[in-house]
Amino acid sequence: MEAVTQLQRLFIDGEWVETGETHPIYNKYTGELYVQVCKAGEKEVDRAVEAAEYAFYHTPFSAEKRYDVLMKASQLIKENIEELANCIAQEGGKPIRDAKVEVIRSATTFLLAAEEAKKLRGEIIPSQASPGNESRLIYTIKKPIGIVCAISPFNFPLNLVSHKVAPALAAGNPVIVKPATDTAHSALLLCKLLEQAGVPKGYVQCVVGGGATVGEQLLKDQRIKKYSFTGSPEVGKHIQQTIGMRKVTLELGSNSATIVHEDGNVEQAANKLAKMAFANAGQICISVQRIFVHKAVEEKFMELFLERVAQLKVGNPLDPDTDVGPMISEKEAQRIEAWVNEAAAKGAKVLTGGKREGSVYYPTVITQAKKGMKVFDEEVFAPVVTVASYETIEEAVKLVNDSKFGLQAGVYTKSLVLAHKLPHLLEVGGVIVNDTCCFRADQMPYGGVKESGIGKEGPAFAIEEMVETVAVVINLEE
Ligand code: SIN
Repeated sequence: MEAVTQLQRLFIDGEWVETGETHPIYNKYTGELYVQVCKAGEKEVDRAVEAAEYAFYHTPFSAEKRYDVLMKASQLIKENIEELANCIAQEGGKPIRDAKVEVIRSATTFLLAAEEAKKLRGEIIPSQASPGNESRLIYTIKKPIGIVCAISPFNFPLNLVSHKVAPALAAGNPVIVKPATDTAHSALLLCKLLEQAGVPKGYVQCVVGGGATVGEQLLKDQRIKKYSFTGSPEVGKHIQQTIGMRKVTLELGSNSATIVHEDGNVEQAANKLAKMAFANAGQICISVQRIFVHKAVEEKFMELFLERVAQLKVGNPLDPDTDVGPMISEKEAQRIEAWVNEAAAKGAKVLTGGKREGSVYYPTVITQAKKGMKVFDEEVFAPVVTVASYETIEEAVKLVNDSKFGLQAGVYTKSLVLAHKLPHLLEVGGVIVNDTCCFRADQMPYGGVKESGIGKEGPAFAIEEMVETVAVVINLEE
């Protein structure tokens, strides 16, 4: 891959397009300019949709070719791990170790999607299942839905783009990516690799836009048939209200919880929770925000947990020893500082952290947080975790469910019965047993309930939402 240039052009209609306007992307730790990316205007967005529409109707993209392109892309992503990880660390502030994990995950996402490309098939529906239809042959076919619009967030600037682009292509759809403006370079580097992998002209486009204009234009363009969005509940609701009857997948926020039950492995829980409550400075939709610990193990847990939190190294994301880097902006760090101060003023206890230096917010552990405090009710999306105790598992379930969100929950328990019972009781899209709520394997269905969203990601599941199932009925009567 070429070295980072000072000006990064947009990828539209198989060409690298320079526009009149640029957006500066900064290194989130040093504040230095990292790269300038071109900004799309109305003309570029329209050209992207037109090119996608043309490709969809005129450029053959067989399942075999899709498999080939996606496999090659996966390989190229792995080969370019250093450059991609460096980009994620600089523009996203993610510690380099974690950035490398994200790159490997992205390669896996493409590989998983490639495997699905060849499996896309309909099914025979038993016609005798209802009276009078015996002479019908009924089956389904799966057709690509048409242009997919991928609107992706800053927190996984490569893998969450991959989770939208790879399934869209696997299903045979052209895709237009609108990445988060402040971390758009990762998405554009991915486009370069897709171009190298042989993606047909018009099947992938990337338009970057500051403000809401590019997004609004994309939402209103009726040629787009499906939207896949990861981001805030506010924007998710706006998308749903704007696009009318067209399809949408929304991966929104959460204040995810993990239960440490009295029969769970407390040491393992303390170690892992100390890591996952602060990974990517807490800017992960399934980040551990609320920990509920059984009273019987509370003391032991708190001692181990605080000890591990104190060992976390805060600093420059490019340092391989860094555990917690900066937040995406100083404004965001100021927001969480205000939220923690609000909680403290209302009676919460800040056991550690609660300190800000520019865009860096130190890992913060809070007890005695309760409803009515933002750090408890809202999604913090910051390195802040609250810990509370409970006496019965019913109480713990109630505490987890007492939220407007429902993305994932974790539970540490050795009880086989609880492990199987809790997924039926917890109001979330995924239950992780003996690990934290902040676990995701890229092949699993991923998506929440309540205000955490609609639909699922994970290539096999996302593809289902990017195809049209068409029923075919043949009357065999002569
Ligand atoms: C997210 O923040 O929703 C993505 C989490 C992940 O992919 O690990």
